Amino acid sequence: MKAAILKDTGNADQMTIKEIPTPAIKENEILIKTEMTSINPIEIKTRDGNRFSPELLKHEYPILGWDASGVVEKVGKDITEFKPGDKVFGIIGFPGFGKTYAEYFVAEEKHLTLIPEGVSFAAAAASTIAAITAYQALRYFGKLGPNSKVLIHAASGGVGHYGVQFAKHFGAEVWATASQPKEDFVKELGADHFIDYKTQNFEEEAQNMDVVFDLIGGEYIDRSLKSLKKGGVLISIPSSSNEAVEEKAEKAGCVGVRFSLKNNKEDMQAIAQLLKAGELKPHISSTFTLDEIREAHRELEKGHTKGKIVIAME
Ligand SMILES: NC(=O)c1ccc[n+]([C@@H]2O[C@H](COP(=O)([O-])OP(=O)(O)OC[C@H]3O[C@@H](n4cnc5c(N)ncnc54)[C@H](OP(=O)(O)O)[C@@H]3O)[C@@H](O)[C@H]2O)c1
Repeated sequence: MKAAILKDTGNADQMTIKEIPTPAIKENEILIKTEMTSINPIEIKTRDGNRFSPELLKHEYPILGWDASGVVEKVGKDITEFKPGDKVFGIIGFPGFGKTYAEYFVAEEKHLTLIPEGVSFAAAAASTIAAITAYQALRYFGKLGPNSKVLIHAASGGVGHYGVQFAKHFGAEVWATASQPKEDFVKELGADHFIDYKTQNFEEEAQNMDVVFDLIGGEYIDRSLKSLKKGGVLISIPSSSNEAVEEKAEKAGCVGVRFSLKNNKEDMQAIAQLLKAGELKPHISSTFTLDEIREAHRELEKGHTKGKIVIAME
C-alpha cells in the first residue's frame, strides 16, 4: 500500500510517499481501506517534534494521521460490531498512533463509528478531532444552554467552525473572532456577533461572557479573562501555550480549563447523528491527494484555513 512516511522531525519535506506492506490485523482489530483523512495542527506539531514524535519515529513505518473515514476490508475473529463493506469513521488510535496517512489503517472497535446514510466520506473524515474537541469543550466544560453567552476565538478554523455550530445547537448566543474576509462565513455558521481580530479589541466587544473558548493561547488567556463575567469559564486548548490558564483564571475569580480531547465513542455517535440530521455542516476548504500531503501541510501551517483540509486517497 501507499503511505506517507515521516523520515525525521522537521518541515513538510520530511514526509515521503512509499510503497509498504499492508498492515496485518490481530483478533481484536479491523483493517480499513482509507477513503479520506483530515489534517490537524497536532500533526504539524508532531512532524515538527512534539511529545508524540520520539515514540512515532521508533516505528518501522512512522506514519502521521488520526482522522479517517473508509470501508472495512477485513475483521479479526473477536470483532462483532463491524463487517467487511461497512462505511466507518473515527479518531484512530488516539492518544497512540492512528497512521491514517495511508491507503489502509488498523483500528479497534472502540475507535470506529458507522457513517450514517447520506453523509460523505469527506464530511465524516473532517468531523473527527476538530469536531469532538469543540463538542466536548462546549458541552461538558462550557455547559452551554439557552441564555449562555460564549466568545469563540478562531471561529473560522477547524475547531472554531464546529464550535460556532455546536454553541448554536446548544442554544447559546455567540460572539466569534476571525479576520474580516471570513465574516460572512462565520455568520452563516450561526455566529450572532462578529469581531475582526485585526481591527477590533475583542475584550471590548465581548463583555460578561459565561464562557470563552480559546483556540489561540498565550496572551489570549490574559485578554480573554477580561471578557468573562465573574465565575465564567475559560477553556483553552492549544497544549503548547495554555499551561497557565487554571492559575490565571482563579486569580481573576473565574474557572480555567486546560482542555484535551477524550477519544469517546458516545460523543462520536452524537456527532454522526448531527451530521445525519444536517445540523452539523463541516466546511471543507480544500482537498489534496496523498501524493500532495506536503502541500496540504504547508497550507494548514499558514494558520488561515477556513474549516478543514482533507486528503483523498485517490
Ligand atoms: N487540546 C486539544 O484537544 C486540541 C484539539 C484540537 C485542536 N487543538 C489546538 O487548537 C488550535 C486550533 O486548531 P484548529 O484546527 O482550529 O486550527 P486552524 O484550523 O489552523 O485555525 C485556523 C483559523 O484560525 C484563525 N485565526 C488565526 N489567528 C487568529 C486570531 N488571532 N484570532 C482569531 N482567529 C484567528 C484563522 O482565521 P484568519 O484566516 O481570519 O486569520 C483561521 O481561520 C491549535 O493550536 C490546535 O493544536 C487542541
